[in-house]
Amino acid sequence: MPTPNFYTSNARDRELVTKSIEIILQGQSLSGAYIASPNFDSYKYSWLRDGAFCAKAMDAVGETESARRFHRWVESTLLGQKLHAETLIQRLEAGEVPEMGDMLHTRYTLAGELEEYGEVEDSPWPNYQLDGYGIWLYELELHHRNLGTSDFNSEVVDLVARYLSAAWETECFDCWEEIGDGRHASTIAAISAGLKSAGALLGVEKFILKSREIREYLLANFVRDGRFCKGLLDDRLDSSLLCIALPFEIVPLDDPRFMQTVEAIRSDLRGTSGGIYRYLGDTYYGGGEWILLTSWLGWYDRMTSNSSGFEDAKEWVMNQVTDNFELPEQSTRGVQEPSMVRPWVERWGRVATPLLWSHAMYLLMIQEGDK
Ligand code: BGC
Repeated sequence: MPTPNFYTSNARDRELVTKSIEIILQGQSLSGAYIASPNFDSYKYSWLRDGAFCAKAMDAVGETESARRFHRWVESTLLGQKLHAETLIQRLEAGEVPEMGDMLHTRYTLAGELEEYGEVEDSPWPNYQLDGYGIWLYELELHHRNLGTSDFNSEVVDLVARYLSAAWETECFDCWEEIGDGRHASTIAAISAGLKSAGALLGVEKFILKSREIREYLLANFVRDGRFCKGLLDDRLDSSLLCIALPFEIVPLDDPRFMQTVEAIRSDLRGTSGGIYRYLGDTYYGGGEWILLTSWLGWYDRMTSNSSGFEDAKEWVMNQVTDNFELPEQSTRGVQEPSMVRPWVERWGRVATPLLWSHAMYLLMIQEGDK
């Protein structure tokens, strides 16, 4: 395994790197699925979105076999959904809009099955989220491109690309599993990126053309006052907008609309302790500062040679580790709505810790080489 390099000489960072790799590997089931969080009942599933970022981080640190196993798991899981997906595609292509509850899920059990209704509290889960499918295709292509391999399952890639091409205009839940206005810039960006990747994997032009059409739609409808906005009818900022250029390259990192978005996130979505919020008005566990988002901004800062931003993000994340070097989903120290912390703790227990996606984004922030 190649020894990865990290942008740090600090011993604590190195310890957190080692621990992060360990936590992600330990959170990978024999099936290849990454659990979202091992100690949080509602997160005992594998999400395509969280998992694809974990696979990306594993590729980045040289644990490519782990990433390969995840991609294999997604392929076999989605093969199990093939008949249902074909029916959905036919219905969508005939102009029907299926009920959200009928659509493909955003998360599966570690064995690659659909969750049973009522299995966890708060079911049914808002499972209709399209971004994970786009993110997965994007990461799959990158994984094979970087390794020079091509042993992916083309039947599944084609299926997912046709599903996204047919479904992309329907309203779905966003990456925070909230509905909002049903059309989300970060979801649209992920779909466009995924279709481009599917086109590259399969050598199929129609997916590339669809990807371009969706990109144009994003640029025409999700820019307000010179920066990207959260929803079609929602002008607010959202930190997930970072994905538009990093990693999806819908626009380059120095695109003025993107740069303005990042600087607005940096100033308007920075919490009192220095971490980054999802969006203003978030109340989940009080709406605190998220480890994965602060790392995401730090990753952007490293990519754009903003060393003080990068160092600040690294230090802030380090301040969030638990005694045994685990990273939670969010910090409840500087929350937006303090009265909303307790209701969530009473409902679901303390904030999910460790969250594999937090560890993945930390690794992506400080690892050298790949994006
Ligand atoms: C987040 C999602 C995430 C899920 C599992 C939710 O609270 O909003 O983005 O995929 O947790 O980590």
